[in-house]
Amino acid sequence: MSGRQRPVIAIDGPAGAGKSTLAAHLARRFGFLNLETGAMYRALALKAIERDLGFDEEPELLQLAGHTRIRLEPQAEGNRVLLDEVDVSRRVREADVTAAASRVSVHPQLRAWMVDQQRVLGQLGGVVMEGRDIGTVVFPDAEVKIFLDAAPEVRGNRRFKQASPSQPVTEEAIVRELRERDERDRNRAESPLRPAADAVILDSTGLTLAEVLARAEEIVQGHIDRVR
Ligand code: C5P
Repeated sequence: MSGRQRPVIAIDGPAGAGKSTLAAHLARRFGFLNLETGAMYRALALKAIERDLGFDEEPELLQLAGHTRIRLEPQAEGNRVLLDEVDVSRRVREADVTAAASRVSVHPQLRAWMVDQQRVLGQLGGVVMEGRDIGTVVFPDAEVKIFLDAAPEVRGNRRFKQASPSQPVTEEAIVRELRERDERDRNRAESPLRPAADAVILDSTGLTLAEVLARAEEIVQGHIDRVR
């Protein structure tokens, strides 16, 4: 038993599966906080870029983390990200930070630093927490675990359609980048991306967004009805 009054909803899965959209929807629907843990890795990666640190240098990155404050402010459509009290919400979504976050997040001690903070953020429950290791490592006792997956081509195509027309990027390049990030997430030694044994696997490859949202809502509502 977790001892929490309200549940932790863990949403994990590969990049571009639609986790953020789903997490924001569930948070709104059930009145929970929405916490995007990827934004924390992105924020630290941004600071490493600004300081010209190597992404493979764990001791330096860890030292940097010790002098860094990352805050997530849940909003209706995702998180506002504050890095040392500066709003970096847009900057952390850019391609160089995305690539750096994927590399920075392989380091075990750095992950432990992130996980400690994520546990504090979610300890009271009433949160939808989204990432790669929420159901396996951060909250293995989460009341609801959803692993949202989709074929790489489908994820790439969705991202391509969302990309702003001013960004000169091809669909092939997006799919390639998603595959690279997935591979790094799935094959790292520490907390690799995988579904928790007790996660519900939701494959959105052949589903519309409305169908994915409805199915996930049913899963969360099912839990709420069971414990009522
Ligand atoms: O989810 P998002 O794409 O914002 O995450 C950025 C990167 O941070 C991912 O590519 C992944 O490598 C890493 N990440 C992680 N564990 C999490 C969340 C994100 O390793 N819980």
